[in-house]
Amino acid sequence: MTDYPVEMDTTPDVEGFFDEATNTISYIVKDPGSKHCAIIDSVMDIDYAAGRISYDHADALIARIRERGLMLDWIIETHVHADHLSAAPYIQDKLGGKIGIGARITLVQQTFGKVFNEGTEFERDGSQFDALFEDGDTYEIGGMAAFAMHTPGHTPACMTHVIGDATFVGDTLFMPDGGSARADFPGGDAGELYDSIQKVLALPDEMRLFMCHDYGPNGRDIAWETTVGDEKAHNIHVGGGKTREEFIAMREARDTTLKMPTLIIPSLQVNMRAGEVPTDKDGNPMMKVPVNGL
Ligand SMILES: [Fe+2]
Repeated sequence: MTDYPVEMDTTPDVEGFFDEATNTISYIVKDPGSKHCAIIDSVMDIDYAAGRISYDHADALIARIRERGLMLDWIIETHVHADHLSAAPYIQDKLGGKIGIGARITLVQQTFGKVFNEGTEFERDGSQFDALFEDGDTYEIGGMAAFAMHTPGHTPACMTHVIGDATFVGDTLFMPDGGSARADFPGGDAGELYDSIQKVLALPDEMRLFMCHDYGPNGRDIAWETTVGDEKAHNIHVGGGKTREEFIAMREARDTTLKMPTLIIPSLQVNMRAGEVPTDKDGNPMMKVPVNGL
């Protein structure tokens, strides 16, 4: 395993913002030693039936950053989400900051560029983003060091971001009673997901873990923060020393029972473009529905 530069002595201030429509949690992560911050996994609102997008969730993040007088260094996407649309360009327009995602975004762009029959004007080189992270790449939020860990399996480009004693797992893990994310999207792989989860669980036991999603299983209140130690002991899919074979069998059986996320079609088209809505030949915002293409 790569020797990652873990720094448990740095404790960033983390604020979570739950989006009820998509069960996504967006985060503002602030350097304790300065006014600099990052946003992780923002959400753009969509009324898909009406083809209408709006920005209530993103506006709440922007208002909070302004209210606290913070400077936004980074707008991070843990992966190309299939269940919500990113508001990264909208936020960047208002507050600045660099949009970053995993370097394997190029694979995701190749796959879905075909599915949506995009023309050559859709670049498949990740150039829509300001930064493409490789495994172990480091970056800074003010004076605070952060790094990205490649954690594929849910999608090929998934990255986990480790910022001091706070780790943002994206869709690698859910809360202990939620288990793990599906691995059946194009480019997903249950065995790879197991290996990626082991990378997260190899972080120190007291590392704080922040989820990208929570569905409040069995009627419990929505929650998004746990620790490596807690996941290792109690995660229903990988805790208590479940083997790779057990995990793959469970994950693949379960994935065959899951429906496609409601917003997968608009989400992919927007998120593979770093949050920009595609346009038609006249420059009007327009999306496609590939019939029997997913
Ligand atoms: Fe996801």
